[in-house]
Amino acid sequence: MKLWNYFDIPNWESIRDRVNIMFTNVYPNIDKMKTLTFFPNDMVYQAVPDFKDWLDSQSIEVVGFAVFIFRYNTGDSRLHVDLGNPTTYRFNIPLMNTENSFTEFFDPPWDKMVEGMNESATEDSPHQYWEYGDEGHQIDNFVLNKPAILNVKTPHRVRVTEDKPRVCLTICPASDDQLTRFL
Ligand SMILES: [Fe+2]
Repeated sequence: MKLWNYFDIPNWESIRDRVNIMFTNVYPNIDKMKTLTFFPNDMVYQAVPDFKDWLDSQSIEVVGFAVFIFRYNTGDSRLHVDLGNPTTYRFNIPLMNTENSFTEFFDPPWDKMVEGMNESATEDSPHQYWEYGDEGHQIDNFVLNKPAILNVKTPHRVRVTEDKPRVCLTICPASDDQLTRFL
């Protein structure tokens, strides 16, 4: 099974722009936002009703929306597995400054794995993660310059290469079946 794939959402750039307006209205200062910020489904659907229509047309039920912000030269996304995520696959929509960052997948030394909270984990979703230098062999990577589905149960990280906050909308589906046909 593939680890990731791009997929087409009609008018995704317009959806991106309106989601950006939505969350910057709520959080005017991106620099003060945490790595992961959840948004109520209703707030997202109000901002982008056409996206809700598209999700319905694809029979994708969304469990939750959140905005991820990764910053340059921080530990925002060290190599990890999304332990508490209910599904294997999620999908992400680029919002800001994603063009010079890489989502990287690794085959790490599993015996050096730590279980618990790294920087991008939450109470509900602890991570399995690896300390710096224990990444092992990189097996794949992609640039989030279009909407993409990705496997979050394979060790992965986001490497940011420029000093701008890298922002994406991350979406958890109700089941993997709703996304795996896009792979
Ligand atoms: Fe992750």
